[in-house]
Amino acid sequence: MSSDQNRDAEQIGKSANDQKALMRQNARKTAADEAALQSSGTGQSMWGGRFGGGPSAIMQEINASIGFDKRLYREDIAGSKAHADMLAACGIISSDDQDAIQAGLSQVQAEIEAGEMVFDPALEDIHMHVESRLRELVGDAGARLHTGRSRNDQVATDFRLWCRSAIDQLDTAYAQLLAEIIEQADRYAGAVMPGFTHLQTAQPVTLGHHLMAYYEMFSRDRGRLADCRKRLNENPLGAAALAGTSFPLDREQTSKALGFDRPMANSLDAVSARDFAMELLSTLSIGAVHLSRLADEIVLWATSAFKFLTLSDGFSTGSSIMPQKRNPDAAELVRAKVGRIIGAQNALMIVMKGLPLAYSKDMQEDKEPVFKAVDDLALCLAAMTGMMADLKPNTDQMAAAAGQGFSTATDLADWLVRILGLPFRDAHHVTGAVVKAAEDAGVDLWDLPLDAMQAVEPKITKDIYDVLSVDASVNSRTSFGGTAPTNVKKAVSAARTALQQEPKS
Ligand code: ARG
Repeated sequence: MSSDQNRDAEQIGKSANDQKALMRQNARKTAADEAALQSSGTGQSMWGGRFGGGPSAIMQEINASIGFDKRLYREDIAGSKAHADMLAACGIISSDDQDAIQAGLSQVQAEIEAGEMVFDPALEDIHMHVESRLRELVGDAGARLHTGRSRNDQVATDFRLWCRSAIDQLDTAYAQLLAEIIEQADRYAGAVMPGFTHLQTAQPVTLGHHLMAYYEMFSRDRGRLADCRKRLNENPLGAAALAGTSFPLDREQTSKALGFDRPMANSLDAVSARDFAMELLSTLSIGAVHLSRLADEIVLWATSAFKFLTLSDGFSTGSSIMPQKRNPDAAELVRAKVGRIIGAQNALMIVMKGLPLAYSKDMQEDKEPVFKAVDDLALCLAAMTGMMADLKPNTDQMAAAAGQGFSTATDLADWLVRILGLPFRDAHHVTGAVVKAAEDAGVDLWDLPLDAMQAVEPKITKDIYDVLSVDASVNSRTSFGGTAPTNVKKAVSAARTALQQEPKS
């Protein structure tokens, strides 16, 4: 995914840092079991007094989400900072406590980013890790942070914030892909190739027009991301566990601080809703399907049967046994990743189906599918951007193929309608007979002698040859949205302007 999120993964996992963290932990004291009971730094379990002992090992394993939700640390801390400022502004905590909490949370963030945080399943999730460390650092002030909130509204807030920034990063990645597509479409605005229906040669088109079809699809994918962002940008914080709170919170303040458009209107909905995540996954699924179609065309076009393009070294691999081979692995993998992304969407939909209001622990299973799908789509977008930048079409081969299969037969039929005034259905019939004559003679339409055509329809004149070439065919397709190179140039320049005028994120 983005460099930011890659950094998350690197910083808050893995090897060297883990080592360091472990040493620090040992030096500090706690064994994992002890942490379950003494995690708050106050000697109290985070769930209070009703539980006599720590959870069983299996319970801990099934219950803990820290293994994946540590990716929410930045959002969790931002949410807590906004909450603390609001509590102070509303007179619910003192400004001394507010200052201590702000400083403590900044330190917790720095520790996490330095790889120093000890992630411990006994502390379940990122929310408890941050709060527990805060309490170690600032004591009672830290213990006041959780006033008027619950992990239920907290996790909903964190996750919405995370999805929002994932959307922004994916949108930037889409913009980069579109920029490459536009450049190539411009370069190949007049390069003819066969257009297919049923994967049979249908009518000639231009490569520029074909690429701009993907520009349109990917632009709609961006539109769906933007729609999803708009709907998810509401603030659950302050809904507390499910019913709201008796503390006089200012939910407008936290909304503003966190960049949300407004507080969510219903506390039950605020903690229960995951349609924002399902909508994001649906959007990613459609986006992945679109990418897989382009990926498949790259695979197809790179075959020795088509030879429409040569794969760059950067995005192909050799075979360990067949030295002549160049395999389109990157395109194949983009084509395949859609399976995981749609799988993630299914997973979350099934988790949510039939869940009663309000929060159920089932909903902890919402994050991994989203994280994975976002990572997968980001990787696919990066790979496709690279493949587009490196695209080396074999324009001679494409042009030769463009004329095969009597691809200008429709032009012939249109001429019969336009010039001879035949009804289209009759023209279609006449054209079929002319195509058959060419096929029998073993020639292309434009090489079929005039008398052979006139044997089918006596009114045909030599002017017919003006419309039978591939270039004449594409040049004539000037209807709005048609493949004519002049249209492609216009579409390219409109797209380029639109992209340049976008606010940079
Ligand atoms: N880790 C939990 C999740 O991701 C946080 C919310 C826990 N809330 C609760 N009532 N146990 O959903």
